[in-house]
Amino acid sequence: MATVIMVNSSLLPLLIFFIVLLQLFSSTSAVNSITIENFGAIGDGITDAGPAMLAAWSAACTSLVPVDILVPRKTYFLTSVVLNGPCNNSLITFQMEGSTLLAPDYKDTKLSSDYWIRFNGVQGVSLIGGFLDGKGSDFWKCKASTNTASCLPNTGASSLGFLNSKDILVQKLTSSDSKLFHLVFLSSRNVTLDHVTIKAPGDSPNTDGIHVQGSTQVLIQDTGIMTGDDCISVGPGTQDLQIMRVNCGPGHGISIGSLGKGAIEAGVEGVLVRNSTFSGSTNGDSGVKVSNVTYSNIVGTSATPIAMNFNCSTTVPCEEIILEAINLNLINGQPTSFCHSAKGTVRAGVISPTINFNTCT
Ligand SMILES: *[C@@H]1O[C@H](CO)[C@@H](O)[C@H](O)[C@H]1NC(C)=O
Ligand SMILES: *[C@@H]1O[C@H](CO)[C@@H](O)[C@H](O)[C@H]1NC(C)=O
Ligand SMILES: *[C@@H]1O[C@H](CO)[C@@H](O)[C@H](O)[C@H]1NC(C)=O
Ligand SMILES: *[C@@H]1O[C@H](CO)[C@@H](O)[C@H](O)[C@H]1NC(C)=O
Ligand SMILES: *[C@@H]1O[C@H](CO)[C@@H](O)[C@H](O)[C@H]1NC(C)=O
Repeated sequence: MATVIMVNSSLLPLLIFFIVLLQLFSSTSAVNSITIENFGAIGDGITDAGPAMLAAWSAACTSLVPVDILVPRKTYFLTSVVLNGPCNNSLITFQMEGSTLLAPDYKDTKLSSDYWIRFNGVQGVSLIGGFLDGKGSDFWKCKASTNTASCLPNTGASSLGFLNSKDILVQKLTSSDSKLFHLVFLSSRNVTLDHVTIKAPGDSPNTDGIHVQGSTQVLIQDTGIMTGDDCISVGPGTQDLQIMRVNCGPGHGISIGSLGKGAIEAGVEGVLVRNSTFSGSTNGDSGVKVSNVTYSNIVGTSATPIAMNFNCSTTVPCEEIILEAINLNLINGQPTSFCHSAKGTVRAGVISPTINFNTCT
């Protein structure tokens, strides 16, 4: 955080004196910018930076003033960390331009079974830059082998998760080869993902790009997702999700729906997908109430014959689906659309494949 103050030179010494005084009084630690190396991290790609990351987080979280946590341009091996809030300030920024974080092997006991890097109950956290290497390939191989029991009890870990958090910004981050989902947002509010890159092979299992669930006010923009499962999966209880200028493929498009866990699940309301391209199908499979979903200006190539699938539950139909300017192709032949129990409107522009919501049963 650089503060530029322009004043007449005669006032400058006095002003600096007051700024220093202010900082001393506003925080016992007076931290503004710290680096994980001050807390013992070594960027050799081998030494566990987990304890240093936790110590840096603790210092930032205790501070009464905003803090930048610098992760230098090196490669750090990082075991699972849980970074908990609430904190004493709501502006903590991880400056990670040029840095790489390496995940542990799936058999490593220091890899938690749910998330590699997890934020819980935080507010005003930003992640800027950085390359997360989830090291998923050995785990995918194990899952594809005949002896899948040997992978257990490891269920893999999602790379980055924000739970019960708000005012989150993830910008210019790359997530590569996650063992499971790449980025997960659960029960969070006001999340922006901007210029994020997600990549994993098209045949990697369960590597959803971004999973949003129980969250509101989520914006995903100018983002590229290449992965083996859904580019974006939207779980129950999500409201006001905007997806703009996202390129998806390989990947299974956007899926909105249920976790199928049997319990009564909250619906999904207000999803807007604009100016995006997909190589993969755009799905609407659902067991929860889905309403107010707009797809506008979408182009792409489908991997499956059903390029557009609004397969909603009979008991809770999908409502207020709006389609505008959609052009999806199939590599071999003509794609089709499918709808069940969905109410929608075709608003403007060419819709290809065609869909007739009047005949949705
Ligand atoms: C907030 O700051 C106070 C000292 O001013 C400290 O005792 C407390 O542990 C801090 N809380 C957190 C969550 O860091
Ligand atoms: C949303 O979060 C951003 C930080 O990412 C913050 O600047 C903005 O003020 C928040 N908006 C609201 C409405 O709280
Ligand atoms: C539909 O969702 C959009 C955001 O995706 C929101 O701005 C709009 O208010 C919603 N409309 C209704 C009728 O809920
Ligand atoms: C979407 O694309 C259209 C046409 O290229 C453009 O006019 C519009 O500003 C874009 N909207 C967004 C949200 O990117
Ligand atoms: C629609 O969903 C039902 C129930 O989950 C499933 O049996 C069926 O195969 C799906 N149809 C399509 C075309 O996706």
